[in-house]
Amino acid sequence: MFYLPDEVFVNGERFKTYISKETLDKRIAEIGQEINRDFVDKRPILIGILNGSFIFLADLMRHISIPCEVDFIKLSSYGDEKVSSGKVTERKELDANVEGRHIILVEDIVDTGLSLSYMVKKMKEKHPLSVTIITLLHKFEATKYDIDIDYVGFPIKNEFVLGYGLDYAQEGRNLAQIYVLDPEN
Ligand code: IMP
Repeated sequence: MFYLPDEVFVNGERFKTYISKETLDKRIAEIGQEINRDFVDKRPILIGILNGSFIFLADLMRHISIPCEVDFIKLSSYGDEKVSSGKVTERKELDANVEGRHIILVEDIVDTGLSLSYMVKKMKEKHPLSVTIITLLHKFEATKYDIDIDYVGFPIKNEFVLGYGLDYAQEGRNLAQIYVLDPEN
């Protein structure tokens, strides 16, 4: 059984359901169909940005029915706080050779856009054929970096969310849907 409480306390703060599992499943299936259509005969390599994207990537990939590959890179920009540290630290390098390949970067959430702009620059240095960006969530009002996001699951307000891979000081990733910090804490 999936872990789906209506509300949850994480590090002493109350979070309530924001995007239900049903809504997530439906939208992720749609994105999978778009990838099947847009990448036919391209054998894309999906690159998950760890840690946050692992659940989204795992679910998305199971809707992809064209030949594809996967690899991971690990970045950290948040530390254990609710606001980005403003500095990207790389913790795990890519293993695959992506030269001449179609890369699909898979992110859990775009906030300021710092992590993704860093990733796109880094990927382009490896001479891929194309770099496509997918994010499950986009805090569009908070984005300061100029990045073209190709597929967005859900545009959201500038609020702190967790669950479905996203954490608050490393807790809450195991929640099966997305929760938002309740202002009436
Ligand atoms: P950016 O570099 O400012 O766009 O931040 C992107 C990263 O910050 C994401 O990959 C997440 O790991 C983390 N992040 C941003 N907003 C949230 C949030 O609301 N909850 C949990 N993590 C977040």
